[in-house]
Amino acid sequence: MQLASVTVDPAFVVGPVRRRTFGSFVEHLGRCVYTGLHDPGHPTADADGFRGDVVDMVRELGVSTVRYPGGNFVSGYRWEDGVGPRVDRPVRLDLAWHSTEPNTVGVDEFVRWARKAGVEPMMAVNLGTRGIQEALDLLEYCNVRGGTAWSDRRRANGAEQPHGIRMWCLGNEMDGPWQLGHKTAHEYGRLAAETARAMRQLQPDLELVACGSSGPGMPTFGEWERIVLGETYDVVDLVSAHAYYCEEDGDLASFLASPVDMDHFIESVVATADAVRAARKADKRIHLSFDEWNVWYVKRAESRPPSGDDWPVAPVLLEDRYNVADAVVVGNLLISLLRHTDRVHAASLAQLVNVIAPIMTEPGGRSWRQTTFHPFALTARHAAGEVLRVAIDAPAHDTARFGPVPLVDAVATYEPDAGGLVLFAVNRSTAGPVGLTVDLRGFPALRVVEALTLSNPDHTWSATADDAKTVLPRRNPSATRDADGVRVELPPVSWTMLRLERSG
Ligand code: AHR
Repeated sequence: MQLASVTVDPAFVVGPVRRRTFGSFVEHLGRCVYTGLHDPGHPTADADGFRGDVVDMVRELGVSTVRYPGGNFVSGYRWEDGVGPRVDRPVRLDLAWHSTEPNTVGVDEFVRWARKAGVEPMMAVNLGTRGIQEALDLLEYCNVRGGTAWSDRRRANGAEQPHGIRMWCLGNEMDGPWQLGHKTAHEYGRLAAETARAMRQLQPDLELVACGSSGPGMPTFGEWERIVLGETYDVVDLVSAHAYYCEEDGDLASFLASPVDMDHFIESVVATADAVRAARKADKRIHLSFDEWNVWYVKRAESRPPSGDDWPVAPVLLEDRYNVADAVVVGNLLISLLRHTDRVHAASLAQLVNVIAPIMTEPGGRSWRQTTFHPFALTARHAAGEVLRVAIDAPAHDTARFGPVPLVDAVATYEPDAGGLVLFAVNRSTAGPVGLTVDLRGFPALRVVEALTLSNPDHTWSATADDAKTVLPRRNPSATRDADGVRVELPPVSWTMLRLERSG
């Protein structure tokens, strides 16, 4: 068996665990909203038509913020279509996903759903086909108490209290040629800066996110961030990052190493933001909103929108079925996000329901948890206090996409007052188990209270609606504590959580 060690020490603090790291994303795309969140005929539906079983699962998942309403959808969206009496709401073509948008759910319903699910809504404005005025109108509708045209419209529509939305995304993936109204970095940078300035004139304490480029593989990446932040530095707080990973050509080892790419991506955006900071001699730092990340099999047929004359409502789109290896990668991507908690101040697992999602539903029927649900839910529930960087000594293996990569990755969180320590670790080996020694000499009084491992002899196993009772992850009986630390066996292709508490 291969051996590895990690050393955890209370002195290696990166920064606080941020609840907003555990955000997610709801887009008007496929069956995310309609028959996902919203299904009026469902036995658990509330007066608004929102499924109670899904709300319960969202709470169990531990989601903090939810970004809405897109994604590519937002770049052609007229938010006014989705407010007011339902009978008066227009039906529109959604060009981004070649679908028909009935506008049954809009901003007021979404905010009511968010309150019910206990999540913070995070709103995106359309900077594709629209601009400053429409963004201001939406902000006024949402956040002004009353006594103005748009705020009184909200009150007349049943929302007496303002929605109080703090986080706003200034458009979506504006460098992508697929984006309605996509722009050059200079064009977008100017528009984002002027929109941000105007929104702050209305409400100075907003938290505003400028679009970073739409992925680390984009030809625009890097230069886009430099130019956009050059225009927007003083008026935004965060820059977005988006990344999706998948197994390609059966190359599991490279896929499992995807978090190496996320680490590198984050560090590149931080470096660019800090270069702009240095050039401007600014004190302020720009942080990252990693507001789309996940495993997404983008080349599969179900990722292709309908075409021709077919403009369906809520078609089956991007309904990836996740296996155990996908869940291990999701767990490891969370390790990467936590490790960068000093600069990643928000993140959104894209998406929440049905569309590349941890939660799946049948229209009018059952709902279930995908494999990826579990590492997210456990990390969201148990990561607390401070993030600790851990020193890892692990053998490496060669990967075609990322070169030599350590077999083990890990991060820890620690609550000094309560004495709770949690280690999240993965074994990326496809060949065999790794015997992991966790050096805990800095924590002599802690004992293991829980050791859970997500793995399966068949890493291609996926959950279906029939597997509602399948327990994942399972207790790892190999974890033992001695004076120096913990020894635990990590199966191949696995994600593990070790929880320790003060004895007595
Ligand atoms: O999450 C699916 C899509 O991925 C989003 O609409 C878009 O922003 C990204 O390209």
